[in-house]
Amino acid sequence: MLNNLQATTTLHNGVKMPWFGLGVYKAQDGDEVIQAVKIAIKNGYRSIDTAALYNNEEGVGQAVSEAMEETGLSREDLFITSKVWNADQGYESTLAAFELTMTKLGLEKLDLYLVHWPVNGKYKDTWRALEQLYKDGRVHAIGVSNFHVHHLQDLMKDAEIKPMVNQVEYHPRLAQLELSTFCKEQDIQLEAWAPLMQGKLLDNATLQEIASKHGKSIAQVILRWDLQNGVVTIPKSTTEHRIIENADVFNFELSAEDMEQINGLNENLRNGPDPDNFNF
Ligand SMILES: NC(=O)c1ccc[n+]([C@@H]2O[C@H](COP(=O)([O-])OP(=O)(O)OC[C@H]3O[C@@H](n4cnc5c(N)ncnc54)[C@H](OP(=O)(O)O)[C@@H]3O)[C@@H](O)[C@H]2O)c1
Repeated sequence: MLNNLQATTTLHNGVKMPWFGLGVYKAQDGDEVIQAVKIAIKNGYRSIDTAALYNNEEGVGQAVSEAMEETGLSREDLFITSKVWNADQGYESTLAAFELTMTKLGLEKLDLYLVHWPVNGKYKDTWRALEQLYKDGRVHAIGVSNFHVHHLQDLMKDAEIKPMVNQVEYHPRLAQLELSTFCKEQDIQLEAWAPLMQGKLLDNATLQEIASKHGKSIAQVILRWDLQNGVVTIPKSTTEHRIIENADVFNFELSAEDMEQINGLNENLRNGPDPDNFNF
């Protein structure tokens, strides 16, 4: 039941992943990220999404440790995601990158480890490393990020373990219809990055009309649309009132008509790079 901030989806290996989490891309390591993560956890968030690239795994780790001490939550109550960066892809280099991530986070086990981007010629070796980490019990679930349908099909040709999650850019302007259908068929959980289109949708008139009707903000309407579409969402904020506002989406429901209107905003428009054409 999608009725509270701790509600979870069950991944295809049985692991429970919160539907809602905090993203920390561009949150500065040190005080900024530590405060954001602690505020989030104290306000009921259980899932934090970081990556080696974000350079803030140490702050995330410190915040998690302090928040557990201050709230009495245990490690099992929290769901921490990180990602292997492109420069580290390959079998051995991914295993080494994982150890560095774990040292920075100060954790023994990770909840979810993702291949950050589908680096051509590398992602299959990277995936073998993730499979090994999973079999060794170091990570409870493994997945990918920024994979198109053809990347997933190619990966699964040789994979022993099917990815449990695919984290992609997803918002009302980029509804990822084909990918969404494919992931549902394959039981791969879709997860939205840049759910708020990094702030670019927050003055949209259609969304404003729906928001006013429900007495909610545009951000809340978008995040609720993610959840009602069966997509895990991880909006980023380092601002206390927005961290709280974003998660306050479990006490209203968008009607079928609202959902249709929001679906109508889709333009297959990316804010970030296309996974078929990136150079980093
Ligand atoms: N896998 C990937 O390749 C990938 C790529 C990008 C992002 N991600 C993950 O996805 C997370 C979310 O994506 P994102 O950070 O790119 O973009 P986002 O969550 O769509 O937008 C974040 C921006 O919106 C602002 N904001 C947040 N809540 C707001 C609200 N209620 N009202 C007005 N403004 C609000 C934030 O500002 P303040 O912080 O100032 O509040 C920030 O500038 C990231 O943090 C990261 O964890 C993954």
